Amino acid sequence: MSEEVNDKKNVAVQAAALVENNMIVGLGTGSTANYFIEELARRQQQESLTVTTVSSSVISSQIAQKQGLKVVAIENLSSLDLYVDGADEVTEDMTLLKGRGSDLVREKLLAKASNEFYVLVDNSKLVSNIGENYPIPIEVLPFAWQLVLNSLEQIGGVGGLRPNAAGDGLAVSSHGSLILDMKFDEGTDSQALNQQLNATPGVVEHGIFANLATTIFIGADGKIEQRNK
Ligand code: 5RP
Repeated sequence: MSEEVNDKKNVAVQAAALVENNMIVGLGTGSTANYFIEELARRQQQESLTVTTVSSSVISSQIAQKQGLKVVAIENLSSLDLYVDGADEVTEDMTLLKGRGSDLVREKLLAKASNEFYVLVDNSKLVSNIGENYPIPIEVLPFAWQLVLNSLEQIGGVGGLRPNAAGDGLAVSSHGSLILDMKFDEGTDSQALNQQLNATPGVVEHGIFANLATTIFIGADGKIEQRNK
């Protein structure tokens, strides 16, 4: 019986093979990042790879520690060698949408501080425009949500506060922010929107990752395409 192709795992294994001894490696969050953590731990155990990691979330930190990886606090770092994470959407120009989870503040900090940022996706994540498949998550200071929502509506945004998983309250990010999930017109330029969101008071962080990825690994039907900046 043939084994089912797992493109997320394949790209994670390929990226983990590029990790070198003594690197400081940032761990992303999500199912693809989990495969990367697993493979990094395997290399540490079976190939005597020496690596220090820093995590973008409590959950990834727990997974990494359980598998024997050394995880240091983000507060102790001024830079890292490599950050590896998944994404929800990837465009031709390597702009990303992230943050379907609730850890995008740390994710963007690590992506920005890292010499290299590898993004691991299967081809279902490729889009023509950011926002094609998902609303854009925008973390806001809790007391500012209404003013931020109003500003975003004035530039064509439609959406509102993200409910929690049970649907009986609001989602709160790991940073303690509320999250606005916003849709914009189909043709909206993601670079311009990135700048507008960066300049909106009350916005803590948002899910557009522009000019940060250095390599994208795209898995499709057992094959891997690599796009470099
Ligand atoms: C979390 C993220 C994830 O990387 C993104 O949602 C992809 O997840 P998965 O690897 O499970 O498809 O941005 O904030």
